[in-house]
Amino acid sequence: MRMKKIVVIGSLNMDLVANTKHMPKIGETIIGLDFKQIHGGKGANQAVAIARLGGNVSMIGKVGNDNFGENLLKALTEDKVETNHIMKENVSSTGIALITVDEKANNTIIVIPGANYKVTQEEIHEKLELIGEVDVLVTQLEIPIDVVKYSLRRAKDKGVFTILNPAPAQLLDDEIISSVDLLIPNETELQILSGIEIQSEEELLEACSKLIKKGVKELIVTLGDKGSIYFTENEYKKFTAYKANAVDTTAAGDSFVAAIAVGLTNNFKIEKAIDFASKVGALTVSKHGAQSSLPFLQEVMNFEEDYNEKRYID
Ligand code: RIB
Repeated sequence: MRMKKIVVIGSLNMDLVANTKHMPKIGETIIGLDFKQIHGGKGANQAVAIARLGGNVSMIGKVGNDNFGENLLKALTEDKVETNHIMKENVSSTGIALITVDEKANNTIIVIPGANYKVTQEEIHEKLELIGEVDVLVTQLEIPIDVVKYSLRRAKDKGVFTILNPAPAQLLDDEIISSVDLLIPNETELQILSGIEIQSEEELLEACSKLIKKGVKELIVTLGDKGSIYFTENEYKKFTAYKANAVDTTAAGDSFVAAIAVGLTNNFKIEKAIDFASKVGALTVSKHGAQSSLPFLQEVMNFEEDYNEKRYID
């Protein structure tokens, strides 16, 4: 049987990560505990997580003609992500994320998009053959919004299932929303997209309902250690999170989205896909960094002692 294929259209960043005891206040200088360069970017993180979980994945994106770009591409190739469609840009440098993580696992992230913002609609047009070949398209909001819109629309035209992780949060026009089969926001992103301030379960459902009316088919809202919810026109289900010893939440959302894409291409029912993704998210927060923390399928299989391997391989 043909293995289903996923394309990720998104960002690649080199994460410059400072670990600190606490977050500095405005105007404060503090001495950090550690510094590392870690491969990141929401798009690349999702592509790597998909590959580590056994998915067949290609990535479309752009890096600068520099060492960071070279290193990111090499790492993706080593992780078995197909990188033939990642372009190089001579004018801008590779995207960078300045990340601070404190001892309570809180983080702050500043992204300098660089080459990520140089991806164009014309370039996506040239990749339509690849988009038409895949079963699932996954994208986020760290590349130009017109490129996100074009990619989603063209994928829909070709009958490809579309997943949008609307991160970092921003307002989206109705044309984008209506091109999304499965939207995976966190609570903050959902608030911004729906314009509804969420303080109760009722408001959470109202926000989901508003997006369904705009044309999204399904929503999974991630709620951190409170779990997640699944929402469609006819269904509403709650899922609890797995307990984790959280040291760094960077890329937890990315790994969750990736796991859902892998689950769906393995024909998992939504409950099973969300359970799988919850385990992947819990494993991710228990390690430091973005791509450095993304688990392999075997680690997910070992997650519960009584876990039966066959559950995840249909
Ligand atoms: O989601 C985590 C990612 O956000 C980091 O890897 C960083 O590059 C930013 O894009």
